[in-house]
Amino acid sequence: MAKITYVEHNGTEHTVEVANGLTVMEGARDNNIPGIEADCGGACACSTCHVYVHPDWADKLPAKDDMEEDMLDFAYEPDPARSRLTCQIKVTDALDGLVVQMPEKQI
Ligand code: FES
Repeated sequence: MAKITYVEHNGTEHTVEVANGLTVMEGARDNNIPGIEADCGGACACSTCHVYVHPDWADKLPAKDDMEEDMLDFAYEPDPARSRLTCQIKVTDALDGLVVQMPEKQI
């Protein structure tokens, strides 16, 4: 279980508990948090689950695989240092306190 804070582009924060084994995208979806669309349902095929990870967390998350890296090229204004696809990040206790910020828009 991890407490994750999702910050909308307008600054509105949503802090929720997300069970281990879910993805960060599923945590947003299951709590009706706006800003993460996840059109492909988590298959790493759409990039509409894009977020900017808080700088304190950027190096603490498991590394991106090639598929996520490629799909991020299609995201809206990706930041190489902080952009991630939330459907590719599995929640564990180690993510407790994670903060992610949604982009101005998904593609
Ligand atoms: S939900 Fe489509 S890439 Fe993450």
